[in-house]
Amino acid sequence: MTTLKITVAAKAPAFKKDTAFLLGVKEQSKNLQLTKSSVDSTALAKHDLEQLGASANFESITKVAAPNGAVFALIGVGAEKLDEDKARNLGGAAARSLRGFAEAVLDLGALSKTSALALIEGFQLGFYEYNGKKSKASIKPAKLSKITLVTDAKITAKELSEIAVLATAVHTTRDLVNTPPNDMYPASMVKAVQSGVKGLGLKVQVWDEKALAKEGFGGILAVGMGSSRPPRLVKIEYKPKGATKHLALVGKGITFDTGGLSLKPAESMVGMKYDMTGAATAFQSVVAISKLGLPIHVTAWLCLAENMPSSTAQRPDDVIRIRNGKTVEVLNTDAEGRLVLADGLSAAVETKPDLIIDIATLTGAATIALGNRYAGLMGAAKAVRVVEAAAEKAGELVWHMPLPAELRALLNSEVADIANVKIGNRAGGMLVGGHFLREFVPVEIDWAHLDIAGPADNSAAAYGYTPKGGTGVILRTLVSVAQHLSGNK
Ligand code: BES
Ligand code: MN
Ligand code: ZN
Repeated sequence: MTTLKITVAAKAPAFKKDTAFLLGVKEQSKNLQLTKSSVDSTALAKHDLEQLGASANFESITKVAAPNGAVFALIGVGAEKLDEDKARNLGGAAARSLRGFAEAVLDLGALSKTSALALIEGFQLGFYEYNGKKSKASIKPAKLSKITLVTDAKITAKELSEIAVLATAVHTTRDLVNTPPNDMYPASMVKAVQSGVKGLGLKVQVWDEKALAKEGFGGILAVGMGSSRPPRLVKIEYKPKGATKHLALVGKGITFDTGGLSLKPAESMVGMKYDMTGAATAFQSVVAISKLGLPIHVTAWLCLAENMPSSTAQRPDDVIRIRNGKTVEVLNTDAEGRLVLADGLSAAVETKPDLIIDIATLTGAATIALGNRYAGLMGAAKAVRVVEAAAEKAGELVWHMPLPAELRALLNSEVADIANVKIGNRAGGMLVGGHFLREFVPVEIDWAHLDIAGPADNSAAAYGYTPKGGTGVILRTLVSVAQHLSGNK
């Protein structure tokens, strides 16, 4: 991972070669103007910014020559005030555009301290590229290594290192999610966990297929049994001394979702490597929470399986038994996420946490309902409020969806305690998924479900700090939940 050295200064440094100076462009009485800054912009003063191609449109960037071989990067800051969310996205857009400079100086004028921090956070989040298996010749590595933020705000080294912890966790989540499925399967994800927790004092426990069978994890086993690459359950635990609250994160970790015997059509199968995003996010959330040293007990449960069709795969009509003893009639093997999560939720429930949050690319219906930027949020009223507030703090988008009582009856089964789908039903697919999961968490335990099928990956163009491909969305919300529960912010 490329790391950026961040410096904070009250005045902009001198112009020099290979350095970009990021300045804001706004519209004032139909004219374009630079936002206030300490950068000497006399070279621009004689020009009509519009003639240079600059625009006040949010995130648009125009580069023009500056003295001494430096470059002005003129970024549209939009019409309204630069709040935290906008600053974060501007930072990300700048990072994506300035990769080729050795240094960047960011001077968007008088920002509040929180907006200044958000600008840096966005820059770090946006400074990401996944090169995967491209051959060396086709990779253009970023040259950028140093950022100077010009601000009067007092920003501490601790604040900067906290931002770096979050950005690293988000980048690692994206890397895991972007990894092609021939390299990413349950056992390789376990390896990634084992190497990713080194030196952090986290406890990792792994159930292989034998242990899963012995201990009654019938959901993870049923989904994984069609693959030659067997399933796993992973528990990652962070338990600092003196922690009073316990947060459990349960992540859907389908390393590839073909649909199983209820096979997906070819076009819908593309992208199903993203189906382990929930698990990757839960994993990296505990890593970040432990690096931040938050005084809270956190466990992450990664429910890992590859959903494949084969002669050993589960069949539609099978009845399986989940860890908590409930039986499920599997009517569609493509509704596999809820089966592995049922086991993960049951295991989490046994440890009696104060709050359980599951994170899953659970339904295509979530995308139909909410598009590609909002995560669907369901669950108990109190938990929903906590997650909503945390998302708001993190600047991430969640939308509270109901669990309408009448939809529960769709899952009634003649032969088992519950069915995993209602064949032919198209009403409220995301909510039916939520109803199913709810059956595995007793009412005494606070629980929220995040369906991140929409925002987990970005198949459109990059925007703000969000790249193409895996986005790492919701990780910062989960860390923010941990901060809230631990009484730390
Ligand atoms: N992993 C998919 C959900 C998904 C679909 C995520 C598209 C991202 C984009 C999930 O396992 C699935 O296949 N869900 C089914 C549920 C249905 C069978 C009730 C779906 O959405 O079609
Ligand atoms: Mn599926
Ligand atoms: Zn799936």
